[in-house]
Amino acid sequence: MKNYDTTRHVRGESLFADDFLLPEGTLFASVFSSSIAHGKIVSLDISEVEKHPGVKKIILAKDIPGQNQIGGIIQDEPLLAENEVHFCGQPIAIVIAENLLIARAAKKKIKIEFEELTPITDPREAYAKGMLIIPPRIFSNGNVDEAWTQCDVLVEGTVETGAQEHLYLETQGAIAFPTEGNGIKIISSTQGPTATQRAACKILGLPMHQVEVDVMRLGGGFGGKEDQANAWAAIAAVSAYVTKKPVKLILPRQEDMRMTGKRHPYSIDYKIGLTKDGKILSYEVTFFQNAGAAADLSTPILDRTLFHATNSYFVPNVKATGLCCRTNLPPNTAFRGFGGPQAMFAMEAAIYKAAAKLGIDVSIIQEKNLLTEGDEFHYGQLAENSKARACWNEAKEKFKFDEIKSNVEKFNRENQLSKKGYACMPICFGISFTNTFMNQAGALVHIYSDGSVGISTAAVEMGQGVNEKIRLVAAEIFSINKSKIKIETTNTSRVANTSPTAASSAADLNGKATELACKNLFERLVDFVKDEFGFSASSKIEFEDETILGDGNKIDLTWNELIQKAFFKRVNLSAHAHYAVPGIYFDKEKNKGNAFAYYSFGTAVVEVTVDCLRGTYIVDSVKAVHDFGKSFANVIDLGQAEGAIMQGIGWMTMEEVIYNSEGKLLTDALSTYKIPDIHSAPKEIEVHFLENSENPLGIFNSKAIGEPPLMYGIGTFFAIQNAMKAFRPGKEFQFSAPLTPEKVLLGLYKE
Ligand code: MTE
Ligand code: HPA
Ligand code: MOS
Repeated sequence: MKNYDTTRHVRGESLFADDFLLPEGTLFASVFSSSIAHGKIVSLDISEVEKHPGVKKIILAKDIPGQNQIGGIIQDEPLLAENEVHFCGQPIAIVIAENLLIARAAKKKIKIEFEELTPITDPREAYAKGMLIIPPRIFSNGNVDEAWTQCDVLVEGTVETGAQEHLYLETQGAIAFPTEGNGIKIISSTQGPTATQRAACKILGLPMHQVEVDVMRLGGGFGGKEDQANAWAAIAAVSAYVTKKPVKLILPRQEDMRMTGKRHPYSIDYKIGLTKDGKILSYEVTFFQNAGAAADLSTPILDRTLFHATNSYFVPNVKATGLCCRTNLPPNTAFRGFGGPQAMFAMEAAIYKAAAKLGIDVSIIQEKNLLTEGDEFHYGQLAENSKARACWNEAKEKFKFDEIKSNVEKFNRENQLSKKGYACMPICFGISFTNTFMNQAGALVHIYSDGSVGISTAAVEMGQGVNEKIRLVAAEIFSINKSKIKIETTNTSRVANTSPTAASSAADLNGKATELACKNLFERLVDFVKDEFGFSASSKIEFEDETILGDGNKIDLTWNELIQKAFFKRVNLSAHAHYAVPGIYFDKEKNKGNAFAYYSFGTAVVEVTVDCLRGTYIVDSVKAVHDFGKSFANVIDLGQAEGAIMQGIGWMTMEEVIYNSEGKLLTDALSTYKIPDIHSAPKEIEVHFLENSENPLGIFNSKAIGEPPLMYGIGTFFAIQNAMKAFRPGKEFQFSAPLTPEKVLLGLYKE
């Protein structure tokens, strides 16, 4: 996977927040946090810490110069706890010292007394106690109650999905520097530089022009730094502001795992009704979202759950209810898929249960109900340009689905303790921020007088290859070697008012803004060439491999020479452009509208082998036909698909976040939290690019790729259950993810 950073990464030369050279006098912060999940702070004694040699300052809530508030959408999250704590790991105090070891040692001397209150960790319990963050959200169409009477089969049940730890390689962190005139500059590992700037401004009580946020790159974000980088940047910022020294804060892994939120666990009730030949007529689903102690991004995440309630199927009658339940866990947050995966898992579970009752193969129901061109989603948008069936058909054919089935059946007849299973997993994922206003981006392109190019955008590089894509866009428009193009850091003073790099749309949004800015410069250069070389207004000027053509003939002029000439003739060699996605809107009262610019489609076929003596399993293969649009960075796109599939498998199988009943995280280290490694990777991953797919709303006709393939991982859950059914025919298994080896074993043997 050769992207912009590959060589630097391999040499260890890439800079992450922890790698920047620090000015002399830099101080180090460590965060003291709550050891209980719910309670009142009765007393807080920092006198011993203040006496600790090397400690420079302790900051409590009362010392915050601005507002003690970091809630981005709903203002319900203090940066530092004041009188109460609402989750284990909630920041209470910042200890700033001359070095890191002192800061960490000194914070142990803080004496705190709590009056403990009973914590709630279960979303259904929170709901029963009226602990909703917002009123219930309902997306619906048709009339489910009338439709039930027309159904031949009805099934209902519950589904549980687990949390997921982001486990970005680089933990959360920031360095803040005081600047002239009481301002602050922050180097942050954030997906959302503007959101980080806003949060720091609120904490400091400063206007936005006083706080500059700069992002080099992230060692992964996966959604975990869309909103939750803000707190650590604000802590570094307030520390620098108060001490008037640079302050660095990088979370140790265990603190990061304990203090930050994860993918939302959901508990889900569903009811589905079908005709006897498998046509889905009606679907009712209620999502109990475990939001944690503060809203964070839970509300737009819940909306995306409701959008994707029917996955890639057309259902004429739908009622989807979302309940955003406040519990005493760290606030859960964005994670690749943003609420979509939980919805799709529930829909698939409903189909599996219905298939069992009807006594037909699941794939018959799946295929029968796939979206066709122009089908209407329950929120009113039409499935235009639906590739759901094209991907399905091609996957079934290309990967010889019928052969897979018969081979699995044969294997299972011949083996007693080892069983194989398979599953098809179609996906449909809407591309756009579901908050319409967020679908905008900016780019600032400079052509320097020596012909080299520097590009700043709102996009944050976090391993997904967005910088390389942006570089390819500019290289294509100017027809210059991409080595001439540098992608600058993401900086709020160069490109302002940005949306986070999220919703898989950074390449589309920022690529389009870059395309506009580059075309603007291109037009200026074309006009200059016409003037300078006496071409008529209607002449055709083209750039080709760093040379210039006029009406098809080479002009004696290279790119570098052109730029130098243009500079001396005072042509403006800088351009800024703004891009806003056209045609999207959503009515949040009626919950209807065209929320998405377009959809991403695909189908995966998953095969597994389960060791029925031990409960362990191997993913034999994941094969998918995916709609990439017209990919212009195939290797990056393939890398994204493979990585997302792995992360999806992890969420569905082995990654188990466990809090005890007191709300304490038990899985707070890599010894207790298992993520997929090379041994648990599928033996084979094959991702086929759907042909003949064009997408004018994506950059260069491509489609967003960051999140959608994660949901292929859901197929692994059902493939494992399929194998379990071969071992225990007729036994009913719970739809409770992750399906760890422990759960497989208990499922196979426990009555
Ligand atoms: N890939 C890598 N290597 N690291 C990441 O942190 N984040 C994912 C995805 N792929 C991520 C990644 C998430 S959650 C999103 S929303 C997209 O990348 C964001 O980038 P894009 O908009 O450029 O696709
Ligand atoms: N996806 C990711 N992040 C977001 C979204 C979304 O749809 N809406 C707001 N933040
Ligand atoms: Mo991705 S969850 O939208 O950062």
